[in-house]
Amino acid sequence: MLFSKKTPGPEVDLEHLPRHIAIIMDGNGRWARKRRLPRSAGHAAGAETLRRIAGHIQRLGIPYLTVYAFSTENWKRSPEEVEAIMGLLRTYLQEVLRDMEKNRFQTVFFGDLSPLAPDLRALCRQAQEASRPYTDCRMNICLNYGGRDEILRAARLYAADCLAGKADPQRLTEAEFDQYLYSRGVPDPDLIIRPSGEQRLSNFLLWQAAYAEFYYTDVLWPDFKEADLMEAIAAYQHRKRRFGGV
Ligand code: FPP
Repeated sequence: MLFSKKTPGPEVDLEHLPRHIAIIMDGNGRWARKRRLPRSAGHAAGAETLRRIAGHIQRLGIPYLTVYAFSTENWKRSPEEVEAIMGLLRTYLQEVLRDMEKNRFQTVFFGDLSPLAPDLRALCRQAQEASRPYTDCRMNICLNYGGRDEILRAARLYAADCLAGKADPQRLTEAEFDQYLYSRGVPDPDLIIRPSGEQRLSNFLLWQAAYAEFYYTDVLWPDFKEADLMEAIAAYQHRKRRFGGV
């Protein structure tokens, strides 16, 4: 089946959609600067875009979405900006808990939540627990996340299991190592989207991105629309994935 008339954007083959889309939500600051608004307004608009695009991904029947909300490096931003992003997360998670039955997303966090404010950490835990039954569409929110940090953490956990006699390093496989990552049980992303003209991975899903297709666009994240998502999916569908073969 090709794209529905109601869907804006280019032709997309709805029978061959990516199973897992990951997004680096970039460009909020520039969006705000262009409008002479504070950076926090850009993040608020970015959070709104996430609500819209996540809904569209869910309607398409794509089962996994992973978004980069806050990196291990983002603590270097001003305290006001960090607090603004945390405030948006707080509001978002309150909505997740309130509207769970209507929205039907499973919410899972990737990252070290220990430095977060206790109330926000509790909200993350509650949202993750309460949304467990909604397995049709899962949103992984990367929060205080870094790809290298994730791999180091997995290596530490694995080494501890080796010392405890529960694992044998001579027999370690990729599939076994996967079990120590935040993303255990989640298929690798097929498509990684980065808006705002930057063409970097920025420590996002380093292990999982091994065979992902990348899509870059100059559109800033707060301006990213359903039609841009369909463009990204159409571009993905025109690529030949080779997984190292010919
Ligand atoms: C990058 O844009 C964006 C971030 C560091 C924060 C992303 C956060 C949100 C979209 C809102 C909160 C998240 C949720 C899950 C509700 P940038 O600030 O680096 O933009 P710039 O490169 O234009 O300055």
